[in-house]
Amino acid sequence: MRKYLIAGNWKMNLDRAESVDLATQIIAKLPSPCPVEVSVIPTLVHLEAVKHVIGSNVQLGAQNVYFEKKGAFTGEVSVGMLRDMGVKYVLAGHSERRHILGETDEIVGKKAHAIVTEGLGLILCVGETLEQRQHFKTVEVVGRQLDAGLAHVAAASAESGHLVIAYEPVWAIGTGLTATPAQAQEVHAFIRTKLVEKYGQETAQNIRIQYGGSAKKANAADLLAQVDIDGLLIGGASLMADEFIGIVQAAIAGQPKH
Ligand code: PGA
Repeated sequence: MRKYLIAGNWKMNLDRAESVDLATQIIAKLPSPCPVEVSVIPTLVHLEAVKHVIGSNVQLGAQNVYFEKKGAFTGEVSVGMLRDMGVKYVLAGHSERRHILGETDEIVGKKAHAIVTEGLGLILCVGETLEQRQHFKTVEVVGRQLDAGLAHVAAASAESGHLVIAYEPVWAIGTGLTATPAQAQEVHAFIRTKLVEKYGQETAQNIRIQYGGSAKKANAADLLAQVDIDGLLIGGASLMADEFIGIVQAAIAGQPKH
């Protein structure tokens, strides 16, 4: 059975006090132990502060990392440094990093490799732009991003539960436009097929594929009801404790599905 992973990507939004406050509110409202996996992903400089309030019921995630282990890389942070902070999941390939910060498929592949090699959980984000969708390029783009992102992610990492894929259509991120459950499921099924080709049926069936892009309390249950949607990666709605908890509750109500 694939346990839902509900993750809140806070991006560059909250100051330290707001981050601690949001984490505190989430913890207060979560059932303990929580039957689905929940993760919050604050900005790097607030990881430590948030870690102190979340306890073991919520996993700490990081929005970014550099792929080298150590050295003269001014301004960068290594996977080992994140692990020392208690981080469990690290995003790679988020569309904002691809499109705003210019991260290439190759860089994403190196980051993905570094994350799993150091034993942390990788959330590999993939997704097409509106223009690519309109030109029927979704499968091509997502397929290419998966091939590059997973080029150095060995089957052993996938088997050990360290690999999560997040399908985030760029046109749905922060726009209020959500992929319909059927549109999302179609791409998730394609991603599952690619994972089967790479890792084999049994391993692929255990890999979680999250959906992200204007996910919120109102659409969470319908998205999560899809057979290949195993969690949500949430931006805007994760900044409001009640919304986020509402999404977690929808996930709890929907589980177990498989
Ligand atoms: P959104 O962001 O929920 O605000 O659309 C999702 C994401 O970027 O992970």
